[in-house]
Amino acid sequence: MDPKEIIEQLQLLTQQFVASLQNQSTEQAIRDLQAAYLSKKGKVGELQTSLGQVEPSQRKEVGQAFNKAKQTIVQSVTEAIDGLVKRAEEAYLNAHFDVTLPGRAPAQGHMHPLSIVMYDIVDVFTSMGFDVAQGPEIETDEYNFAKLNFPDDHPARDMQDTLFIEEGKTLLRTHMSPVQIRSMLERPLPVQVVAPGAVFRRDDDPTHSPMFFQIEGLLVDKGIHFGHLKGVLNTFLYQIFGEDVQTRFRPSFFPFTEPSVEVDIQCIYCKGKGCRLCSQTGWIEILGAGMVDPNVLEGVGIDSEMYSGFAFGLGVDRVAMLKYEGITSIKLFYENDPRFLERFRR
Ligand code: PHE
Repeated sequence: MDPKEIIEQLQLLTQQFVASLQNQSTEQAIRDLQAAYLSKKGKVGELQTSLGQVEPSQRKEVGQAFNKAKQTIVQSVTEAIDGLVKRAEEAYLNAHFDVTLPGRAPAQGHMHPLSIVMYDIVDVFTSMGFDVAQGPEIETDEYNFAKLNFPDDHPARDMQDTLFIEEGKTLLRTHMSPVQIRSMLERPLPVQVVAPGAVFRRDDDPTHSPMFFQIEGLLVDKGIHFGHLKGVLNTFLYQIFGEDVQTRFRPSFFPFTEPSVEVDIQCIYCKGKGCRLCSQTGWIEILGAGMVDPNVLEGVGIDSEMYSGFAFGLGVDRVAMLKYEGITSIKLFYENDPRFLERFRR
């Protein structure tokens, strides 16, 4: 057979193939078409059987023509399939996405109610000249108890109350009072600080959480007396609960203050008549406080003949429960249920 004729036919077949490729709308149809040309019984395949009849000297040229034709076919098949996929994707996007629709904004977070109350309380004290102090959550027995004048056998040191890390050495602080010690050791006199932070106790029931928040306050200067303590705490309570709130200072005991008091506000729900919230007493305890015990001052090297001071500690959770009506359990603050927290968006 004439090699020229074979090559011409090959070119014709290739053109034919490329032309009919345009009409195929599925990948399967394209593959079928490819087979109809390239398989042994296909159009190009059949033609290839004539290669044997070509003069040996001309076989190389004709063979190359076959290779080129096959290459063209395979390459146009790949392009056609890519085109199909791309068009299918575009059609899908057009049918399913409206790029002109407004987006859905991600939910925006907000402050936790305890943080809100904590900042509000700290603001009241900083406006009265208090600095914010800090201390570590892992404390030494020394700062959490000993330097605060706790006798060795005091029940607060009992394993029941304290989460020890290494008994007698390190523990999770049970109150914010160790920051009193740190502040007096670290700062020049006069010392006037508030210290907000997390505290830990071996307590876990509907009204107690093993972790909760306190704010400690300390003022040490020359001539500080109980009147200053009362003035500062009343001012604070009026600012947080309103000018008409009734307050009450009751004698109490803490190892690190003398005299010591507990401060109550008149129950804001029943206005003193007695209800479930105030256990029928008409009063709700907010603070522990007192004049810094001279032993504590001397223990950090402050001359208790020259200096005196007052200290107080309050539970942030308690204040938050009173500020926001209807919070039945302290646990709600720590479960982080968004249905509860949503209420405090502001
Ligand atoms: N640290 C005490 C407590 O946790 C509160 C307190 C602080 C009392 C400062 C007096 C002075 O109960």
